[in-house]
Amino acid sequence: MGGRVAIILAAGVSSRMNTKLAKVLHEVCGRPMLSYVLDACRGVGVEKIYVVVGYSAEQVKDRFRDAGDIVWVRQDEQKGTAHAVTCCREHLKGSDGQTLILCGDGPLIRTETLRTLIDKHESEHSAATLATAVLAEPAGYGRIIRDAYGNIQGIIEDSDCTAEQLKITEVNPSYYLFNNKILFGALDNVQPDNVKGEYYLTDALALMIASGHKVVAVTAVRPEEAMGVNSRQQLSEAGKIMQERIQSRLMDNGVTIVDPANTWVDVRTKIGQDTVIEPFTYIHGEVKIGRNCRVGPFAFLRSGTVLGDDVVLGVFTEVKNSSLADGVRARHHSYLGDATVGKNVNVGAGLITANYDGKNINRTEIGNDCYIGSGSILIAPVALKDGAHIDAGTVVSQDNASKRGRQGKSRR
Ligand code: UD1
Ligand code: MG
Repeated sequence: MGGRVAIILAAGVSSRMNTKLAKVLHEVCGRPMLSYVLDACRGVGVEKIYVVVGYSAEQVKDRFRDAGDIVWVRQDEQKGTAHAVTCCREHLKGSDGQTLILCGDGPLIRTETLRTLIDKHESEHSAATLATAVLAEPAGYGRIIRDAYGNIQGIIEDSDCTAEQLKITEVNPSYYLFNNKILFGALDNVQPDNVKGEYYLTDALALMIASGHKVVAVTAVRPEEAMGVNSRQQLSEAGKIMQERIQSRLMDNGVTIVDPANTWVDVRTKIGQDTVIEPFTYIHGEVKIGRNCRVGPFAFLRSGTVLGDDVVLGVFTEVKNSSLADGVRARHHSYLGDATVGKNVNVGAGLITANYDGKNINRTEIGNDCYIGSGSILIAPVALKDGAHIDAGTVVSQDNASKRGRQGKSRR
């Protein structure tokens, strides 16, 4: 065995988050933190991903039950990050390969940074390589201790630092690559002699250096991707940084976002070229928007929304689990839920699709080229033929909908 695998540590209790949910399941821009770390590993090509779970383990496994490339490892008692890695020993003890170790609470990680880490490890032929970051405010992170020549000597956790060491601004974001055999050798000797009484993975590095192995630290992590989320405040900060990345990617792809600070777009959303997103628009979940659309201000798009091209959604328009074909216009105050809307339909102000009858969610089908007057209610399940004309203020149920076609004018 000699390939590269990844271990992601995700067993911790997270007292600072004050939560019953596993920390790594808390969402950043619509996906659990752990998803981002998994994707970063997949991006550099690893043979297997071992995820160490403990606190709320079943919740985490259930959320990722469809991910076939994960091997779940239990850490029943959380005795520290070194102990968590030791729990993978059964799987990895014979391996000659490389082991990437990352924390599940670091969603801002980028594949490019991991690639830099791997390249450095290979060019330096080191036993362990870690990527570090320099932060203006390093509080809370393990500090990188270097000697007068700049060689790394070890990492001291924030709670164990002296006043002098607390001033060090180079920190450990927890991105490591190890030669597997040397790692597991060093882990045997890690002792919990620190303020928290935990077995620290960071101590394994100092032990490796002491026994003559080459350990290299490369300052490759941008400050904004170093963040480990330990509190709700950090969760919201990570969300803000991720939101900037999402919007910046969309703008690179030709989407106009008029007021980025007052717009929120889920990471799973796809938006076509020349679409304009107006301020106070909130797009949550798996949403697909075509080209040349105009969305907002104050639009709320929820999971399962698919918009064709040239669609206009205006102020206070909510769309959920619905597809709107090319040229649909819904400019003011409407709710389209569980609906299929044909081409060039005009949705008047205040249309409601009444999709829930108290027991079931029902669908509304609207044909092409329909005109739906303001203040109408479509009681699902209901289907309108192509070209149907619904007068303003009409309540349409299936009983009276069948008459309405291109010739069939609506009556109240
Ligand atoms: C850790 C690092 C610190 C670094 C910081 C970056 C250690 C000792 N410290 O500190 O140097 O600056 O991350 O964010 O590694 N976990 C387990 N089992 C355990 C304990 C933790 O799986 O027994 C997991 C947690 O779920 C978490 C990760 O390991 O995903 C890191 O643990 P956390 O308690 O957040 O460590 P930090 O104090 O942030
Ligand atoms: Mg942490």
